[in-house]
Parts: sequence; C-alpha cells; structure tokens
Amino acid sequence: MASTSQASTSGARTAHPDHLGHVIFIAAAAAMGGFLFGYDSSVINGAVEAIRDRYDVGSAVLAQVIAVALIGCAIGAATAGRIADRIGRIRCMQIAAVLFTVSAIGSALPFALWDLAMWRVIGGFAIGMASVIGPAYIAEVSPPAYRGRLGSFQQAAIVIGIAVSQLVNWGLLNAAGGDQRGELMGLEAWQVMLGVMVIPAILYGLLSFAIPESPRFLVSVGKHERAKQILEEVEGKDVDFDARIAEIEHAMHREEKSSFKDLLGGSFFFKPIVWVGIGLSVFQQFVGINVAFYYSATLWQSVGVDPSQSFFYSFTTSIINIVGTVIAMIFVDRIGRKPLALIGSVGMVIGLALEAWAFSFDLVDGKLPATQGWVALIAAHLFVLFFALSWGVVVWVFLGEMFPNRLRAAALGVAAAAQWIANWAITASFPSLAEWNLSGTYVIYTIFAALSIPFVLKFVKETKGKALEEMG
Ligand code: GLC
Repeated sequence: MASTSQASTSGARTAHPDHLGHVIFIAAAAAMGGFLFGYDSSVINGAVEAIRDRYDVGSAVLAQVIAVALIGCAIGAATAGRIADRIGRIRCMQIAAVLFTVSAIGSALPFALWDLAMWRVIGGFAIGMASVIGPAYIAEVSPPAYRGRLGSFQQAAIVIGIAVSQLVNWGLLNAAGGDQRGELMGLEAWQVMLGVMVIPAILYGLLSFAIPESPRFLVSVGKHERAKQILEEVEGKDVDFDARIAEIEHAMHREEKSSFKDLLGGSFFFKPIVWVGIGLSVFQQFVGINVAFYYSATLWQSVGVDPSQSFFYSFTTSIINIVGTVIAMIFVDRIGRKPLALIGSVGMVIGLALEAWAFSFDLVDGKLPATQGWVALIAAHLFVLFFALSWGVVVWVFLGEMFPNRLRAAALGVAAAAQWIANWAITASFPSLAEWNLSGTYVIYTIFAALSIPFVLKFVKETKGKALEEMG
C-alpha cells in the first residue's frame, strides 16, 4: 500500500495532464471569485467622494462605512471553510455569487447610508468566501506539477479585478461629465459603478455550474466513483486512480475529524501549521500593500502631479502589479514558493526603506524636494513589483495547498480571516500614522518586510511539486 501510494504520488507529480486546457478552464472559472474580490474591494474608491457628498458625512464616518465591509470579509472567510466542508466547494461558490449579485444591486440603490453599509458588509462576506474557496478548490483540482501556476490564477484575477474596476470607474466618470454624482442611465455615476458588478457576479455563478466538484470533497462524502472520474479529467490517464483515491482516503482518516477543534493543539491554542498560515497572511498585509493602492494618488501628488490626473498614475500601480503577478506565475512551479517569497521580501525591504528615507524630508507646498519625490515614486513601484512577484501570489498559493486535506478549508478560513483583519488594521491606521510621521510609518512596514525573511526561513515548508496528501 505504502509503495503503491508512493508511486502514484510521484506519478502525479510529474505527469503531464492530457487535459491541460480543461484544467486551465476550471481554475480560471473558480478564479472569477478572485476577480470579484479585487473588483469589489477597490470599486468603492471611485465612489467615496459622491457618498460623502450625498449623505453629508465627515471622513471618520465615511471611513467606518468603508472599513465595515472588511469585517464582512473576515466573517465570510471564517465561515466559508465550514460551508465548503458541509455542502461542497461548488455550492459555496454559488452562494458567494448570489451574495455578490444582491450586494451589487443593493449597494447601487441604497435608501440610506446604513443601508449602503449593510450591502457592503454582505458583499464583504462574499469576498471573504471567495478568498477561501478559490485557492482551496484550485489546489484540490490541480495536478501537482501545475498547482502553483494554476493557484496563481486567483491572485492574477484579483489584480485584474482591481485594474478593471479602476478603468470602469474612470470610463463611467468621464461619461458622467467628470462628476461622481453626474447622471448616468437615470442614476448617479457612483451608483452605476457599484451596480456594474452584477455582470461578473452572475458570470461567476453561471461558470460554477460548468466546473466539477473537488475530488477531495467527493471522497470525504463517499462519492468515490465521481471523484475518480474527475481526477482522470484533470490528471490524464496515466495515473493509477484507485491508488490515488485510496491515498486521499488514507490521508483523510489519518487526520481524524474535521472541525474547528481540529485546528486547536500545541501550547499556543492553534496547531503550529495554522499559525504559519496566519503568519503568512499577517505579513502579507503588514508590509502595507493596500496602502500602496489606496494612497497611490497622494504619492503622485507629492511629486507635483496634478490631482486630476491621478487616475492614470494609480493605474500604473495596477499595471505593475499585473506584470509582477505574471513573473510569479512563470516561476512559482520552477523555483518554488519559498525562494520567490524570500526574493520578494528583500526587494520590498529595499523599496520601503527608500520610501522611508524620501519621506523623512519636509514637504514644501505638499511636495517633496525633486530628487526625494522621484525616489519615493520609483521606490513605491519597486515595492509593488516585488510584492506582486512574491507575496501576492505565493501566500494565496501556500494557503490553498499547505494544510492537510481534512484541515484545509477550516484552516484556510482562519488564515484568510486573519488576513482581512490585518488588512483592516493597516488601512484604518494609515491616515493617523501618516499624520504622526509618514517616514516612521514606512519604517514600520520595512521592519515587517524584514521580519518576514526569518519567518519564512524558519517556519514555512516548501510545497512545490508535492501531492496534497503529503502536506502536514
Ligand atoms: C493580495 C492581497 C490583497 C491585495 C492584493 C494586491 O491578493 O491579499 O489584500 O489587495 O494582493 O494585489
């Protein structure tokens, strides 16, 4: 048994799937959840001013209305694992698609500010679910040799979602004569921005009917024949599927029951592997990546660019983010996840430290001195590039594949929830920190980027090329 299982595992490691095109379609369809994640979390930026104006609220209340969606994300991520283990990965995607759809409609047609906040929380819940189900499902259906690259689809979809939302917002704003509250199709422009999301949401729901359930989930509910068929669809015909099913089953039994309780253990509440997942999530956020997105326009203005042009310049950040993601997709299965993460950490330390240096100079009329201004700008883009080619992709890939089968959905849920809380902590604290000392704020992010190096070296295990049944 042990030797059969070994042979089949290594077979799966190197086998070229007969149906790579089909697997790519499956992963891309599941990654639509990532697209909605990126789109929904950044679309709000184009509507902020209009919301402030229409409901006549100050910055603090507005910030709360926006941040509250992140709480929805954390709850969605924390519960998605349970739902996915109970009713399956595909049903979980369908629930998320319905929530995305109703949230888009509700957010576009709110009758009060609290109503808008509520729809944003529901959308956040869907984003949280999508952030868990995408990586888990893709890891579970991918042949090991391609799992890193297919898992990167999630992050690629997130970054494309961010870029597309910026483009759509820009297009709608122009169509409405440059005013977020200008009339468009009988609504105000910002309402259309939020409402447009129904299109990808419905597409996500439809695509989920075209892809198969995860073979690991099917084995867990005793549907072995169907699981075998799907494994054959994705791993080609040269693998011994009875041995693969036995291997999955064996791994599941070995790991006892699957509940939140199984994540607990050791002397620090959670099992060490769960802490590693949480650590990856928290470091990914604590380097300040979302600050780079939300405040990129401010950066450009500090080198003297006219605020009205800031859309174009924020868009460059998104393009660099996409380029970095493509680089990561090329290398993630070749050089592995750990080396990529380490290269990225070093690059991020350099970028962030340069930003800290540049911002230690005094602003004159809101601008840095010319040299420091350009250093800040280039360093910020260097930082985004290194993040994108490493931690952006690698963390979602790791979270999808690093946990043993029985723990995967629940552990990924906890790690992703930690990520949303960390995201909230960083984006909500940035304005006050920046007011205190912008250079000091970048020093803090630099320290986190530097600490991520010993963290990866000491606690993170390479997952490249291994079967999911070998994790743990
Ligand atoms: C990762 C992060 C997300 C961030 C994105 C930027 O997906 O999890 O918070 O917005 O990268 O590309």
